Amino acid sequence: MDKLQDNIINEIRNKTDIVEIISSYIPLVPRGKNYFGVCPFHDDNHPSMSVSPEKQVFKCFSCGAAGNVFKFVMDYENINFIDAVKLLGDKCGIEINAKTNYKKLNKNEKLYEIYSLASKFYQNNINTSEGKKAKEYLKNRNIDENIIKEFEIGLALKNNKMLSSLLKNKNYDNKDLDKSSLLIKNGLDYKDKYYNRIMFPLYDLEGKVVGFSGRIYDSYDESKYINTSETEIFKKGELIYNYHRAKIEARKKGYVIVVEGFMDVIRCYTVGIYNVVAMMGTAVTKKQANLLKRLAKEIILCFDGDDAGEKATYSCSNELLEIGVTPKIVRLENKLDPDEYIIKNGKDLFEEKINNPISVMDFKLKYLKKDTNLKDAESTSNYLHSMIEEILKIEDPILEQLTINKLVEETHIDINILTDEIKTKKNIKPEKKEQKAKKVIEDKYIKAQKYLLYYMINSKDALKIYIRKKPFFPNNIYRSLALEIIELYEKNGNVNVADLFTKIIDKKELNESLSSILEINLKEKPSMDELEDYVKVINEYNINYEIERLQNKMKEESLPSKKAEIAMEIIKLKKDIW
Ligand code: UTP
Ligand code: MN
Repeated sequence: MDKLQDNIINEIRNKTDIVEIISSYIPLVPRGKNYFGVCPFHDDNHPSMSVSPEKQVFKCFSCGAAGNVFKFVMDYENINFIDAVKLLGDKCGIEINAKTNYKKLNKNEKLYEIYSLASKFYQNNINTSEGKKAKEYLKNRNIDENIIKEFEIGLALKNNKMLSSLLKNKNYDNKDLDKSSLLIKNGLDYKDKYYNRIMFPLYDLEGKVVGFSGRIYDSYDESKYINTSETEIFKKGELIYNYHRAKIEARKKGYVIVVEGFMDVIRCYTVGIYNVVAMMGTAVTKKQANLLKRLAKEIILCFDGDDAGEKATYSCSNELLEIGVTPKIVRLENKLDPDEYIIKNGKDLFEEKINNPISVMDFKLKYLKKDTNLKDAESTSNYLHSMIEEILKIEDPILEQLTINKLVEETHIDINILTDEIKTKKNIKPEKKEQKAKKVIEDKYIKAQKYLLYYMINSKDALKIYIRKKPFFPNNIYRSLALEIIELYEKNGNVNVADLFTKIIDKKELNESLSSILEINLKEKPSMDELEDYVKVINEYNINYEIERLQNKMKEESLPSKKAEIAMEIIKLKKDIW
């Protein structure tokens, strides 16, 4: 963002009152210094969202949603930053030309442009006479005009030169065409990667088209779908199909349904179920698991009813358990996928399934028992051992006890032996214990960084100390946040939280960290000593880190003289701490 843009954005933010804007969406009531309302970003009846007219920020104490007025509008309206600025600009009579002003915001702008063009092109094709057959195919699958429009379904024609000539006529650089993954090099020329396929756009988290899945519909081809390969804007492991549309509905309902294929999502829409996203047939990554976690409190996995779907359910639920989310599971009979299930049994029966999910442990009991012969001691023992491993992954003691009861009932194992075994295993998970000990020590360092950041937002003394001592924050997110704060301070001579939120609006991790820092409740004015202590603690961490590095180096060193040298260095460093 250059200067001019920054000024316009700040002007718009300054001219709008967050209380006024938010209360045009949800009722707010004053209490003390702040206003309170029912948070629209999660399922709730209690007024857990506070809005501060003084700081011009909002914060939900229940789901953690937080930010400035732009962030609220972005999340509520499900729009991107630029559109939120535009919308609020309109309200206070400041016009901004988003196209010219924000060109620099996106380094992959050309790629987005190409995808948006291609999507419009494909959509247009499906409405031509050549699109008749494709429309018929969709109609046979019960996908009507409204859904075609909503999901921007299009068509790549039989002629495989169409898109390439369109894009060439627009004078795109070959470099950008190569990057797009939409064309294939054909000697010196290009041809289209997709032809004679129904085109389903794939979106990023904000709803921009960043890829396609092309389905065969009237010919034979060994691949049913052809997908965009990875590009700079299309990273499969980081995307979730329909995330941008499902977001608000999932938060409202308090749960999100996760399916395998995007056709399952589209089918759900045809019957009015909107809180649904798809993983698109790949193993769920950490990143995706974290995205799901953000969508809603409750996650219901409803993958295909076949064996592959069962396997995917197993691995996805483990990925979620690792980040502290316990999903619920729905399994569909007769190997059906949600699309087929709804077509065959109707919306009501599908909803009944969704409303009666089984627990993840019940799913695992069934899943792991499939290959077990309960009449055979060894097979039963293997089953029990695997289930113990699964029990170690959950944190809920009640779910644990219920699972143990079921295992006892099924296998007639002595409950004491089973619980003892679980206890022992819990205790000998050495990495876990070590991690815990480390965490306690780390907490002190994290606290020092967070508190110093808190005061950097609230007091000039802290800013001055930071600038003077330049502590190196070990945590890279805190470090970036500190740099953003200093930048803002050097530019404006003060640090306005609402403007800080604007500055980091497209940096999700910084945003989250800033909101959690704002939640800290510290006294108004810190003493200089206190501030310097935080810096000391941060430095201590860095010194310890260096000592550890030197100790490792010393271990590997064979020359005694060198060893002594390193030892001296270590001693010197230790003196710095004590
Ligand atoms: P499915 O084979 O379950 O597709 O693959 P589907 O949703 O039932 O589709 P229809 O009903 O046959 O049209 C699930 C997901 O796996 C990916 C796609 O992302 C699909 O949504 N997939 C499947 C491919 O990428 N290529 C394929 O050839 C098949
Ligand atoms: Mn299907």
